[in-house]
Amino acid sequence: MLIQVENLNKTFVSRKRKAGLWGSIVGLFSGKKEYIHAVKDISFSIGRGELVGYLGPNGAGKSTTIKMLTGILRASSGLIRIDGLDPEKHRKEITRKLGVVFGQKTQLWWDLPVEESYDLLRTIYRIPQKEFRDRMDYFIDLLKMEDFLGQQTRKLSLGQRMRADLAASLLHNPPILFLDEPTIGLDIITKDVVRKTIKQLNQEQKITVVLTTHDMEDIEYLATRLILLDRGQVQYDGQLNDFIANYQKEKIVSLHLEQETDVRSLQSKGFELASPSNGQFLEVRLKVDESVSGLIGALSEQGARIQEITVGKQDLTETLKKIYAGKNLEL
Ligand SMILES: Nc1ncnc2c1ncn2[C@@H]1O[C@H](COP(=O)(O)OP(=O)(O)OP(=O)(O)O)[C@@H](O)[C@H]1O
Ligand SMILES: [Mg+2]
Repeated sequence: MLIQVENLNKTFVSRKRKAGLWGSIVGLFSGKKEYIHAVKDISFSIGRGELVGYLGPNGAGKSTTIKMLTGILRASSGLIRIDGLDPEKHRKEITRKLGVVFGQKTQLWWDLPVEESYDLLRTIYRIPQKEFRDRMDYFIDLLKMEDFLGQQTRKLSLGQRMRADLAASLLHNPPILFLDEPTIGLDIITKDVVRKTIKQLNQEQKITVVLTTHDMEDIEYLATRLILLDRGQVQYDGQLNDFIANYQKEKIVSLHLEQETDVRSLQSKGFELASPSNGQFLEVRLKVDESVSGLIGALSEQGARIQEITVGKQDLTETLKKIYAGKNLEL
């Protein structure tokens, strides 16, 4: 196993302070200790070439886990091995094996032009010139970076910076890539470029990816396995397909009719609308294994002619919403 995590815990200790300056001074000495159990006894292992979506609601402990795996944070207890190494003891060797992107902050030098940051990384990782040039060309092309290589990092747009950061994290050719919200705030075109790059690296170079995101399209496009975290604990660990098959209970059928039909009589036959309807455009909720022929039959009984019909793809967002909200929790 490339990544191994056993009974990992992280508890943050902070002192509760009263408001105001005096409160903060007094608090230094007398404040009550407060414990936040951000990560509680989690275990999983990830093999070479896997692409894992690491999901969970805000505050679930995702970033805390990634910080421990990358050696930025010390675990309170438990075991972590990255390609057999302990990140706390082998911080330097570990950085050679890892590419890390935190969507919220950059690893590039703020005041340097992007290409000079890359040059510094080349020196730090002692990447041979030829290999460096080849990889640079590869990323400039893949991530469409030509236009802003000479710009200072602090002048880059968010989308440019994210692409620059992704390339920076991969220059030394690490076998593992950790991505913490890499598409946050990106426009749809840039999201696409970032997703395609991740997919290509995973498929062609077998790079192992752990991806945290709140964007379900990232997951649908990229992940094959899900690890779902909630309040510091693993709630689900398995294939994305199995997850959808087990927890997807409904599907939405969208219909365009040639004329308006009586929506209420459709409802009286037991069909549930997924959204308000004007009688001509309808979205009907069906059980996932329920055939659409019953619905079509009911409509034709009413004399409605169907212009267009689409059966909605499985909606990961809706499923996760229910799970996050504590419903549907037969996990
Ligand atoms: N340095 C810290 N000191 C104290 N508490 C912290 C610290 N870092 C994180 N926490 C707490 O740990 C919990 C988990 O935080 P974490 O950042 O790992 O969540 P997350 O799953 O990444 O959420 P998000 O989706 O919002 O990024 C939260 O309750 C958070 O407030
Ligand atoms: Mg986070």
